[in-house]
Amino acid sequence: MTLNRRDFVATVGLSFLGGSDSHSAPPKKAVPPSTESYSDWSAVRAQFELAPDWLHFSQFYIVSHPRPVRESIEHYRRMLDANPFTTVEHGMGFEAFTAQQAQEDTLPSRVQRAAADYIGGHPDEVALTDSTTQGLALIYNGLTLKPGDEILTTTHDHYVHHEAIRLAAERNGVSWRRIPLYDAPAAASGEQMVERLRHAIGPRTRVVGLTWVHSSTGVKLPVRALSRVVTDVNRTREEHDRVLLVLDGVHGFGNQEEAVAELGCDFVAAGTHKWIFAPRGTGIIWAPDKNWGLLRPTIPSFYSPEPFTAWEDERPPKIPTRASWISPGGFKAYEHQWAMADAFEFHRRIGRKRIAERIASLNTLCKDGLARIPRVKLLTPRDSALSAGIICFDVAGQTPNETVRKLLERKVIASTSPYKVSHARLAPSLVNDEREVEAALHALRDIA
Ligand SMILES: Cc1ncc(COP(=O)(O)O)c(C=O)c1O
Repeated sequence: MTLNRRDFVATVGLSFLGGSDSHSAPPKKAVPPSTESYSDWSAVRAQFELAPDWLHFSQFYIVSHPRPVRESIEHYRRMLDANPFTTVEHGMGFEAFTAQQAQEDTLPSRVQRAAADYIGGHPDEVALTDSTTQGLALIYNGLTLKPGDEILTTTHDHYVHHEAIRLAAERNGVSWRRIPLYDAPAAASGEQMVERLRHAIGPRTRVVGLTWVHSSTGVKLPVRALSRVVTDVNRTREEHDRVLLVLDGVHGFGNQEEAVAELGCDFVAAGTHKWIFAPRGTGIIWAPDKNWGLLRPTIPSFYSPEPFTAWEDERPPKIPTRASWISPGGFKAYEHQWAMADAFEFHRRIGRKRIAERIASLNTLCKDGLARIPRVKLLTPRDSALSAGIICFDVAGQTPNETVRKLLERKVIASTSPYKVSHARLAPSLVNDEREVEAALHALRDIA
């Protein structure tokens, strides 16, 4: 971290950062925005290089990068391969660290702006992570809890959510408890979930951990209504004792119209390498500005000068934790992190409402079809208010693994849910169309 911006421009030339072979090319850091029109869905589907001889109904598992994201990764990869030192030093704004300058012109700050725009928050409220898993671990591990406190969560969450809670609970000597918000997922109701949460929060509860869309059942939680339960409880609590709502948002982030900042949560972790289509190995944490001071960083950060300067001056940081201090440091696959911005731009260009409606419509088509197949039991609610992009089902007389294997033999890529009680899953998304949904249903009719 030795090259300042003036030295950098004088010795290397900003044209280098554009990834151009020519030193006379104008300086450019980010990929120019795509002019592609995404007015019809076949144009959107054409952005993906998925093998055409398969029907891909597991895009929610891990992303296939769409063209603008592939191009952005390639752009940054070339810059990094041509001159890793100067690209990282300048792209990350390291030269400004010693000068204590603001970091608003860095490539991570471009990502934070794009993410904040999508989330409906402020760039300073976004931390950059590798995954949902990492985000949840940084939140639970970072919260200052004391023996006697309780973390309340549900029986429906993913292994990584429960494990992040367990590890943090063990370390802090706090207890944790799981409650079911519903019994049969197909019959889940918003009112029942709200009532169950209201009754479960006790005097020792300090954190409530929820999941926006359950990958175990496909149920989507009415998060806003549930967050109002927490707000009600907090009316009788002191500020230092208030209940915090932590959300694993990954399977709603990128397929819902509601913006994350409007859900009423205190911390939201989500991988961006699923429904957002950002590069594999990327994610975010969002929290309102006032909450970041509640977290202790777990991993040293490279995204803010203050912790670095504090280290140089042999003193603790002078200000409370900021979102940028929670973004884990260490050198990264920067071409992936920096290209995140172009995935949010891809969503913006297609339109958030259009995406939400499209995914709801393909899922409704699929659920209606599944419900008509004898011997298939649909577990996910039919109602779009209680479901998103994941559909869970069982076929009578078959294990979920057998069903998925038989679908695979018919070139349909489904998945099983990785939970103690497992189900088969289909997840219609922007990479599919109505014809593909019908073809998957046809294959299922065949094997059921
Ligand atoms: C509900 C839920 N949370 C978290 C994860 C882990 O996500 P990540 O790969 O972003 O860590 C998954 C995996 O798909 C999941 O289904």
